[in-house]
Amino acid sequence: MDITIRTAEPPDIEALVGLLHSLFAIEADFTFDPHRQRSGLTLLIESSADRLVVAELEGRVVGMCSVQTLISTAEGGRVGLVEDMVVAADCQGLGIGRKLLDEIEGWAAGTGLTRLQLLADCANEPALAFYDRLGWQRTALVGLRKMLRERD
Ligand SMILES: CC(C)(COP(=O)(O)OP(=O)(O)OC[C@H]1O[C@@H](n2cnc3c(N)ncnc32)[C@H](O)[C@@H]1OP(=O)(O)O)[C@@H](O)C(=O)NCCC(=O)NCCS
Repeated sequence: MDITIRTAEPPDIEALVGLLHSLFAIEADFTFDPHRQRSGLTLLIESSADRLVVAELEGRVVGMCSVQTLISTAEGGRVGLVEDMVVAADCQGLGIGRKLLDEIEGWAAGTGLTRLQLLADCANEPALAFYDRLGWQRTALVGLRKMLRERD
């Protein structure tokens, strides 16, 4: 199987919006809004401090993952927030998720980030099992948020 992992480019955006649609369908905290997802993807692609990668299989974009940099006082340096980890339903279980995270980890380490972190839906047992398998540790933190604008 010829899977290519590469940096996302503007022509990938529509395929990535489709992948985010499938991801948000299983994450209770998020509502799919293609206009907002397009805006967010464009910002990520244009950002030199962050990275958005895609998996391509036979010319089709079938997976994605992003990392954004933050400053951690705990680590005394820059760390990375991983988001948008999703593989198309018909391509799961083929090692694509592992390849995407390997690429993100390699880029993060090469950029000098000292820790990666992410939030996962606590009911998403398959994803939690995937992260367990890849050596991610669960923390005692709970995710909180406060919206600063009304949803349209
Ligand atoms: C979670 C997800 C990204 C994993 O990607 P994937 O391509 O299916 O996973 P891989 O095939 O690369 O699996 C990597 C390893 O994790 C293991 N793994 C994957 N899913 C697993 C599961 N549900 N239970 C146990 N192990 C699992 C695999 O066996 C594999 O182990 P190995 O490399 O030692 O053989 C993918 O299933 C997905 O997109 N799910 C829907 C979206 C989602 O939940 N995203 C996470 C949001 S936080």
